[in-house]
Amino acid sequence: MASPAAWSFTPLVSAFPTAVFPNIALWNATSAAKNLTYQIEVSWPFGWESRDVGNKSALAMYVVDGNALGMTASEGFKRRLAVEPSQPDSVVVSIGYPLSDDVYSFARRAVDLRPPLPTPQTPPSGADEFIDFIDASLRPWIRSTLFPNVRFTRDALYGHSFGGLFVVYALIARPDMFDTFLSASPALDWANGSIFDMVSQRLGTGGDLPVFGSCGHGQNGTALSRPAVVISYGSLEQFPVRRRAETEAAFQARKAIILSFSRMTDYCHELFDRLKGSRRARDVVLKEYLGQDHSSVAASAVVDGIDYFVDW
Ligand SMILES: *[C@@H]1O[C@H](CO)[C@@H](O)[C@H](O)[C@H]1NC(C)=O
Ligand SMILES: *[C@@H]1O[C@H](CO)[C@@H](O)[C@H](O)[C@H]1NC(C)=O
Ligand SMILES: *[C@@H]1O[C@H](CO)[C@@H](O)[C@H](O)[C@H]1NC(C)=O
Ligand SMILES: *[C@@H]1O[C@H](CO)[C@@H](O)[C@H](O)[C@H]1NC(C)=O
Ligand SMILES: *[C@@H]1O[C@H](CO)[C@@H](O)[C@H](O)[C@H]1NC(C)=O
Repeated sequence: MASPAAWSFTPLVSAFPTAVFPNIALWNATSAAKNLTYQIEVSWPFGWESRDVGNKSALAMYVVDGNALGMTASEGFKRRLAVEPSQPDSVVVSIGYPLSDDVYSFARRAVDLRPPLPTPQTPPSGADEFIDFIDASLRPWIRSTLFPNVRFTRDALYGHSFGGLFVVYALIARPDMFDTFLSASPALDWANGSIFDMVSQRLGTGGDLPVFGSCGHGQNGTALSRPAVVISYGSLEQFPVRRRAETEAAFQARKAIILSFSRMTDYCHELFDRLKGSRRARDVVLKEYLGQDHSSVAASAVVDGIDYFVDW
């Protein structure tokens, strides 16, 4: 378990002008020992006059690949309030990377988001350390330093693609860590589908039914003792259709590439069956987005996932 003191949090942008981006700020989370920096973006409700707001309770959603998805999640909560005025206050914590040549930092993602295999792998998995960072350093800092007077009731974890694979790994490695696990278009084909055996080994097949501590309390006060899970994917991921401006040859070539690494529909159904069969989650939902591809699902599933997360 990482020592919380191993990470320091340095303001990167303390506040944007209110008329530009109210209630969003960014930090560098740096570990000198690990020679590693994450870029943390946090947003909180428009209705809060400051982060020192008192006497409030809130939900928190943690988003990996924060550079690409943090704003989408923040806007999703804010927009939803217009159609659901009773929505609880919510904080979004996005975990990204210092922007260099790309928004995803592909090299570091490969370390953070890929689960550990039983055999040596290149690069070595940092998923357990990444979980420790979130659990032992980031989340305590969010709760004690950033929002000391806010009572956090339930937390969710959202990830897409390799982030979605990481969410599945977090679910089986630390099922008590989040109340709701949202896995969008997970890279289940990684390492020949190794995650499937890990899921069955760690969660079992429904023979015994351990209860994982408390995940939080629902809106009616009922204790929620097992996590809730959503797996989502786009129908075009495994079954692409020809684009308007694409030749048949170009379409066949694109299709061959897609199918060589992803049978997204089949794999998500397989994951759903195993999670459901394990009976270790209080709810498992499999959701297909018609007409959507690997990219658009990232945004649809985070916004839709907010609705699922809030509604307990
Ligand atoms: C944040 O971290 C990046 C990457 O290490 C670094 O380039 C930048 O100077 C840091 N910014 C601050 C304000 O510490
Ligand atoms: C720290 O990481 C950067 C890349 O992020 C690398 O260029 C540098 O050599 C590393 N420093 C040490 C001491 O490992
Ligand atoms: C705290 O909030 C509750 C519900 O909004 C309200 O009834 C109560 O008076 C507040 N307490 C304080 C000390 O502001
Ligand atoms: C995946 O399967 C291929 C072909 O059987 C094999 O060469 C490779 O080592 C496997 N990779 C892993 C991580 O199991
Ligand atoms: C509270 O809601 C849960 C579902 O979220 C339901 O199973 C439970 O029966 C409800 N409890 C009460 C007291 O209404």
